[in-house]
Amino acid sequence: MTAAPCETNSTCLEELASGNFTRESLTAALSLRGDDQQNLFSFARAKRSAAFPAESVEARSVIELSNVCQQSCNYCSMFKEGDLKRYVIKKDDVLHMVDFLYSKGRRVFLFQSGENTSRAFVDYVARCVSGVKSKHPDSEIILCLGNLSREQYIYLKEEGADRYVLKFESSNPELYQRWKPSDTLVERLRCLDELIDVGYKVGSGNMVGLPGQTIDHVVDDILLVHSLDLMMMSSTVFIPNEDCNYRSEPMGDVDTVFNMMALMRIMNPDRLMPTTSCLDKAREGGQYTGLMAGANTVTIHDGTPDNFKKLFPIYSTARCTPGEERMFGLAAKANLVLGAGSLI
Ligand code: 5AD
Repeated sequence: MTAAPCETNSTCLEELASGNFTRESLTAALSLRGDDQQNLFSFARAKRSAAFPAESVEARSVIELSNVCQQSCNYCSMFKEGDLKRYVIKKDDVLHMVDFLYSKGRRVFLFQSGENTSRAFVDYVARCVSGVKSKHPDSEIILCLGNLSREQYIYLKEEGADRYVLKFESSNPELYQRWKPSDTLVERLRCLDELIDVGYKVGSGNMVGLPGQTIDHVVDDILLVHSLDLMMMSSTVFIPNEDCNYRSEPMGDVDTVFNMMALMRIMNPDRLMPTTSCLDKAREGGQYTGLMAGANTVTIHDGTPDNFKKLFPIYSTARCTPGEERMFGLAAKANLVLGAGSLI
């Protein structure tokens, strides 16, 4: 999937600068490359600097609680039918890990898992959340657990969860169901509404480069991100995981993702936006380019014990799981400071 060449590069940047986020200007901006792309990025960085004058990046540690999953996503090797060995990290091990990361200065924790609506699992997550919050009330917990019921979202919030990341993946209902056959976009958007309604600080976003997606769909995704009441937004590039149903499909176009990130920053200056590790997998230096395109969040992969890390192969069994040192270096290179706590 590649965008049509843009013949009116300066015009589209001018339109964006005047807040004219038309389909035409967004479509044109997605195709910018070379110097024009650099101009788009520097505009996005200016927007970031204005909204976040401290020039800091939020660093969060991820703990991948469990790879048990009830969904059948074609792009993910943790899909229900896959023969991956399944795990759930013991609650006490999660709490010890958080203590350790807290002692190193970390204050934002991301608890991620496969989609598992079982009562036992949600109870377990609730105990992890309340355990962390009672000991470290100044920490911030982000959950990324997929579709749950409104009651379950409320329950986890009451136990102390602060934020929730639930990506809509594609704003197109047919594509959504093609990529994620066990779910519907209607259901996903219902979950997003519930999360916003019950008071989470919510993150969402898309994936770029899966089968059937066109530039028009990406433009729709950008407009949906803009229309939702979000605190966090993200875009990832599709990486064909060795063990997923889409293993023979081509990788997504990483430049389209960088440009989408810049556009999201320009349109929504004061939100958090990660530069994800899959960008590095797609192109050497990709995570750095993400920061240059306006990102202000990094995930540090120092929370999941090594023996479980390889059982959480979201986009690859040879996944990049960058640690603290690399992230400090990355932020410094982009003239940013890696912060310990929440940026918002
Ligand atoms: N390539 C890129 N991103 C992926 N995700 C899942 N699988 C892939 C893949 N193969 C993203 C999805 C999901 C998030 C946890 O990771 O957007 O919501």
